Amino acid sequence: MSVTSRYRQAWEGFWNEAPDEPGAVFWDAEPAVTVGVHLALFAPLLADSGLPLVDLGCGNGTQTRFLADHFPRVLGADLSTSALDHARRADPTGRAEYRRIDAAEKGAAETLHAELGDANVYMRGVLHQCEPEDRQPLVGGMATLVGERGRVFLAELAEAAGTVLRGLAQSPEGPPAKLAPVFRHGIAPGEVADAAVPEYLRSAGLTVVASGELPLVTTEHTADGTRIELPSKWIVAARES
Ligand SMILES: C[S@@+](CC[C@H](N)C(=O)[O-])C[C@H]1O[C@@H](n2cnc3c(N)ncnc32)[C@H](O)[C@@H]1O
Repeated sequence: MSVTSRYRQAWEGFWNEAPDEPGAVFWDAEPAVTVGVHLALFAPLLADSGLPLVDLGCGNGTQTRFLADHFPRVLGADLSTSALDHARRADPTGRAEYRRIDAAEKGAAETLHAELGDANVYMRGVLHQCEPEDRQPLVGGMATLVGERGRVFLAELAEAAGTVLRGLAQSPEGPPAKLAPVFRHGIAPGEVADAAVPEYLRSAGLTVVASGELPLVTTEHTADGTRIELPSKWIVAARES
């Protein structure tokens, strides 16, 4: 098994306790400041916007539902059934489809690819949350899903986010309230070296088409009321030709 059962249970525990209200989760910012900004970057770079789009590690589906309003077929996929329960409750008309998958398991990505064909893949804030040994297999899973014609859009915390998060965890007022459950459930964000991400992509046979920096907007605020934003990078990647 690629993802330890401890890791999956940690996510189940987190999502099981997470409230349904929009914005109750640390990273669950509204689409206008997250996926909406990303869409403007990656839509012009898609080879085929008619392909199914997979939101990999979709969590409670906030970003998935937005994507479903812009693409013909959108599937939110996550390791956690509790996360998918949130996503389905928030999408009573079924704008998107939802599927449980451990994307780091080769067979799981292959099965989904066999069903969907080549797909575009959106993934926000998952790689740094993985067990380090699962990062390469997870990127391999993305490569399987995109096949020949799909594109990947990846939004991931930059190395510099580690310093910001450590500062928040140690702040005199205590960590922001919405970070507490993340730490309590043992899913504290890990650090991924900036140089490692393009390497994971290359090793999976993908090549970087475009990249840049963007803050990852959270739903938390500092004591002076400023919205907390974490340094983050984005990449569009495609199968190496
Ligand atoms: C930090 S949350 C981000 C959720 C969502 N992408 C967003 O931007 O709101 C990370 C999500 O990735 C999921 N996840 C972690 N590892 C995974 C894996 N191997 N396969 C599928 N989902 C995974 C977790 O269950 C969790 O819901």
